[in-house]
This record gives sequence, structure tokens and C-alpha cells, in this order.
Amino acid sequence: MSINFHEEAVALLPRMVEVRRDLHRHPELAFQEVRTAGIVASTLTELGLEVQTGIGKTGVIGLLEGDHEGPTLLVRADMDALPILEANETDYISGEAGKMHACGHDGHTSIGLAVARMLNERRSDIHGRVKFVFQPAEEIGQGAKAMIDDGALEGPRPDFSIGLHLWNDMPVGKVAVTAGACMSAADIWQCTITGSGGHGAQPDKTIDPIVAASQIVTAVQSIVSRNVDPLDTAVVTIGAIHGGDAFNVIPPTAEIKGTIRTYRKETKQMVHQRIREICEGIAQAMGCEAKVEIISMTIAVDNDAAISDRIAGIAAGLVGEENVIRDERTMGSEDVSLFMDDIPGCYFFVGSANAERGLNYPHHHPQFDVDEAAFPIAAALLAEAAASFVIPEN
Ligand code: NI
Repeated sequence: MSINFHEEAVALLPRMVEVRRDLHRHPELAFQEVRTAGIVASTLTELGLEVQTGIGKTGVIGLLEGDHEGPTLLVRADMDALPILEANETDYISGEAGKMHACGHDGHTSIGLAVARMLNERRSDIHGRVKFVFQPAEEIGQGAKAMIDDGALEGPRPDFSIGLHLWNDMPVGKVAVTAGACMSAADIWQCTITGSGGHGAQPDKTIDPIVAASQIVTAVQSIVSRNVDPLDTAVVTIGAIHGGDAFNVIPPTAEIKGTIRTYRKETKQMVHQRIREICEGIAQAMGCEAKVEIISMTIAVDNDAAISDRIAGIAAGLVGEENVIRDERTMGSEDVSLFMDDIPGCYFFVGSANAERGLNYPHHHPQFDVDEAAFPIAAALLAEAAASFVIPEN
């Protein structure tokens, strides 16, 4: 690599920490990132980027035009916090009771701004443009879609797309870049079973939806164990089941709600079909009726093999080959996948845990915090990865 972004990123660490801690003190939930978006927009405007606000309600786009013709690269950072009461004792603890940056998106925003700053210094070397996308509402899986609905992938349409997540499952100094599917598609499924209610002592005069629901709960377990290819992977979870209020009443309806996680489109279709067949079939056999609704939240994050390979190589230059993990996969989901749908790219993980300092709580935990020593690695890697698309080797 001809450009050393690491030194610059290290020099930018105090600024990154300051921005991140400020955002951490003022967390904002999905689609409420007004203050955060304001900071992002004013920073990008100061840098001289072409800035659009209000994209997908509270999203911000900053376009960095290079001096030469070339491709368009999308760089994505998410901005939202979670409805969690922070239980840390730092001097940058959340000042908003019940709201907390418990996933590291404060860090992503700060790192994204640092990368914009570094690449902005290189306008004269850039062939093409970098579209910085600061996304709201990742935690509810709606922000990417809202931004795309507002034209985030048009004028200009990106040719490539990259992004990162700070990752407390790995210590600082490790980076995970995985080719192919590495985060799953997420769907919500719900089934309403309608029978006929009545007295709990006279079940014969009713059609009991609770008994039908119970059998559905058991039967859908066979989808993963009997229908999914053993070498493929899927999750079918029931997270909620409701029916009835009293001990002696058979209710007229029961409701089941859950999530489906898959990597492959074919598997997703098959799981949907089996859920419908099982719910409708069992309900019918029990004299009930089932209404199944499946809502797609996100598609799988499916990293381009060649791009992932290149970024893994850049990561190895930064942290050493032995610290680059090539097969980190999770059934968790990320709506960054919508920015990568038909747009080749790579979404990677930068280790942010430090067990000695107690900075290794899992994401979404009330004591979650990251080791900010991860920031220069993350910023340098993201900048160098971006440069590999828009700054030809010299
Ligand atoms: Ni997150």
C-alpha cells in the first residue's frame, strides 16, 4: 500500500474519541437521530462535501467528488442507539435515561467522519467519488430501506459498497473479513389461530386454538432439523405466544410470533413455505383456521469474494495476517445488506473488546463499552479499503 492511513488515523484518535464520547452522552433512538445527524452534516459540510440531510427521515449523505473520473463507492456508518438504561460509570455515560449507545454506533459515526476527513485530503488523487451514508434506525432494521426509498442508491448509483462494525466478540487488534454470506436474512413471522372460545369445563363445545398453537410450536422445530440441508443453516424461533386471559376460559384465538434467519434465498423461500404449510395444516386438522404473515426485515449480508480478499489483505498489513479472521459468521442481521443488494461490497468486523479493562460486555448489554484503541485500526482499514476502489496505485 502506498498510502499509510494508520499514522493519520492515530493522529485523529483524540478527535474520534471526543466525537464518540459526545455522541455517547447524547444517544438518540431510531429515526430520532436529529442531534447526531446535525453534527454529521455540519462536519461533512465544513469538509466541503456535498451534503444531503433528511434522507430516510434522519439520514445524512455526504458526497466526496474526486478530481478524476471513476467509480462510485458507498461507505456506510449507522448512528442510532438502543432503548437500554446504561449501567456504566464512565464520565461519558448516557445523559438520556433509558437510551444508550450499546452497540457501538457512536463509534461508527465518529470513525465514518474521520474517514471522510482523511479521504477529503486526497481529493486530487481520487478517481471517482465516495458517497458517505450515515444511516438511522439500524437497530429496528428500517433505516437502510428508508434511505433507499429516499433515493440513497441513485444520483449516482454506487458501484461498490463497504462498511464495518466494531465487534466486542473479538479483542482489539483482531479484524474479521469473511467472503460470502456472513450475516443472515431476518424475517418476522406471525400466525393467528382462530378457533371458537367457550367454558374451560366444556372443551367439547369449543374449538381450542391453544392446543393447535402448541402443536404448531412443536412441529415448526422440524423445519430446521428435517427440511434444511444439514450443510446449510437456518433458525426458526418463536419469541412470543399469546392466548387467553383466564384459567377457566378457552379463548377464541391464539397468536404466535417469531423470527426466521437464513443465509440462502432458496432456504428462506423453503422455510417460509414450510411455516405456512405447518401452521395451516395443523390448524385445519384441529378444526381451526390459521392466518400466517411473514414480513421480510433484511436480506443476508453476502460479501463479494474478491473484494473481501483484498480487504483482508489490507487488514493483514495493518494488524498482521495472524490477526485476520476469515470465517466469522453470525445469524445476527444488519440492514447494511440492502446497500449491498446487487452492489458488490464487503462488511467487516473490527475487534473492540479489552477484557483487562472490563470492556468486553456483549453488544446490547447495559454495561457495553468498547476500547477506543480500536478506532485508529477501524478508521485506517476503512480508509485504506475505500482508497483501494478510488485511488489507483501509484
Ligand atoms: Ni450494531
